[in-house]
Amino acid sequence: MNKRITIILCVFISLFLAVIVSGGGTLQPLGPVPVPDTNPQTAEKIELGKKLFFDRRLSGDGTMSCATCHAPDMAFTDGQEISLSYPTTRNWRNAPTLVNVGFFKNIFHDGRASSLEQQALFPLMSSFEMNLNHDYMEEKLRVVPEYVESFKKVFGGDITRERVAMAIATFERTLVSANVPLDKYLNGDKSALSSDAQKGLGIFTGKGKCIDCHNGQILSDDKFHALKVPENPEHQGDERITATRRFVAKINNYADFKTLNEDPGRYLITKDAKDWKAFRTPTLREISKTAPYMHNGVFAALGEVIDFFNNGGGKGNAVLKPLGLDSEEKRLLKIFLIEALSGEEIKIASPVIP
Ligand code: HEC
Ligand code: HEC
Repeated sequence: MNKRITIILCVFISLFLAVIVSGGGTLQPLGPVPVPDTNPQTAEKIELGKKLFFDRRLSGDGTMSCATCHAPDMAFTDGQEISLSYPTTRNWRNAPTLVNVGFFKNIFHDGRASSLEQQALFPLMSSFEMNLNHDYMEEKLRVVPEYVESFKKVFGGDITRERVAMAIATFERTLVSANVPLDKYLNGDKSALSSDAQKGLGIFTGKGKCIDCHNGQILSDDKFHALKVPENPEHQGDERITATRRFVAKINNYADFKTLNEDPGRYLITKDAKDWKAFRTPTLREISKTAPYMHNGVFAALGEVIDFFNNGGGKGNAVLKPLGLDSEEKRLLKIFLIEALSGEEIKIASPVIP
């Protein structure tokens, strides 16, 4: 009996020490995606959600679907610095990957949505994304007999915007990375990573301090940090981006929206000074496929991102300090990011749209 208590105590103490040594974070293999009780996964709902995700009917002028900006063959991004937009308008942020998005509690770069069900309704009506009035969307779908039938089968009732969002969210929760070397390594297969990638992992969790924020199953703490990532100089003078930024600021009750010339980040939501230019830590899974990087796509390649962190982050930030990595250490870190975190491509055949 005593022996058992001692063992339990030892395990507990070493876990505690491991957490302290790694600055509060550990890496964990990817487990099953969390599913809310209010929206269980079913095969038919996933299939319906997939159709809606690819259906251009869901945009005002019939040219765009969710997949326009979250394309399966680009790891569910659009590969642009600033994302694509509704014709004649301009977006203001980079489109993040949707791979493993079901693991986040804070959705969007600034965390302004708290579930995928809530999130999906934003791009549908957003003037610079799909620009489709929600009431009009419901009528556009209600005249399609196959959708009427599917919603009846899946939800036992009529087509509503909430159910559209629920079906899309169900589809999104199936987008998870599979067969990732890091998972095999963490599950005990040490041969899953090359010796360079293992050294890179050592830098990631040690001298590079990346693990302070990029931890857990998807290598994100799901929190907000003001790294003061520079504005993208190429876009600073773009009138359409400025208009979009000020519009979003206005609808988020930002008092000085008329003169706003930069992205306030999380501040837009909390109005708390510590959140000025803070953004949610992104996942690093599949990172080699989701360039360009950061909320505004300011960095074209991983080497630039590593230099940014090595130099202590953006001007005036109070979060990061210079790391002093030499060129060999930066090379190993990059090998880890590319080799250890890339899983199988998620192949999704475009569904037949009714
Ligand atoms: C015109 C391009 C565009 C279209 C169309 C679009 N998105 Fe996005 N998406 C973006 C951009 C840009 C962001 C980041 C916005 C932000 O954080 O402020 C984003 C963010 C997201 C996120 C949050 C990801 C994260 O890491 O938090 C999800 C989920 C998402 N989109 C799903 C969808 C769905 C579902 C649709 C269709 C209903 C859709 N998007 C249509 C550009 C687009
Ligand atoms: C203090 C928290 C913190 C630390 C430490 C940190 N990151 Fe990040 N990282 C973030 C945040 C927040 C962003 C998003 C910033 C933005 O979009 O403006 C980010 C973005 C990134 C991106 C771009 C991801 C994308 O999809 O655009 C990469 C790559 C990255 N970090 C790698 C690293 C590496 C490598 C290290 C260690 C050398 C590191 N990070 C250390 C918080 C951190």
